[in-house]
Amino acid sequence: MWLVRILLVTISGLVMAGTIVTGSGPHAGGPGAIRIPIAFRDVAELHADIALFLIGMTLATVFALHHAKAPGVVQRRARTMLEVLAVQGALGYTQYFLHDNSLVVEFHLAGATAAFSAAVSLYLALHRTEQGVPAAAERARETGRAGAGSGRVVVNAPA
Ligand code: HEM
Repeated sequence: MWLVRILLVTISGLVMAGTIVTGSGPHAGGPGAIRIPIAFRDVAELHADIALFLIGMTLATVFALHHAKAPGVVQRRARTMLEVLAVQGALGYTQYFLHDNSLVVEFHLAGATAAFSAAVSLYLALHRTEQGVPAAAERARETGRAGAGSGRVVVNAPA
């Protein structure tokens, strides 16, 4: 789905912008290290704007998937991505307003990994359901029967 592709492209840009923020700020090496010559504050604000756009697009994706009655696994992964991004956004603003507190930055970096993983996991769920695999597994779970991709092998018993 094109919305999910937009999420993947946006989060990739966001992570790159975050790396530039770090490269222009106090955590890019020791006191004498050469930093990226961009105003830390400006690039941090651009990074935050991309983050807000991503959160908005993810919220829209959650609604679109719900409206389209997408398979449960896809909807769950989209919600997980939204939740991870909400925590990550809150961490980002906390570190920004605490003057780039290094402990919060550590959590922000871990959160960035979680957010990117959540985005890839959503894309993979969507891609696989388009091929019908988890969709069949889910239908089988709902009806209580094993099916293609359910992870259970169905052997026809001899009559
Ligand atoms: C919500 C999704 C977000 C993601 C996925 C994200 C991701 C990242 C990444 C990957 C980095 C740098 C990694 C590196 O050092 O190579 C970073 C740095 C940073 N981010 Fe975010 N970010 C998000 C939101 C925000 C928000 C809302 C703010 C608020 C201003 C923010 C503020 C910062 C700051 C100040 C740094 C520099 C930290 C340092 O000094 O090392 N981030 N972010």
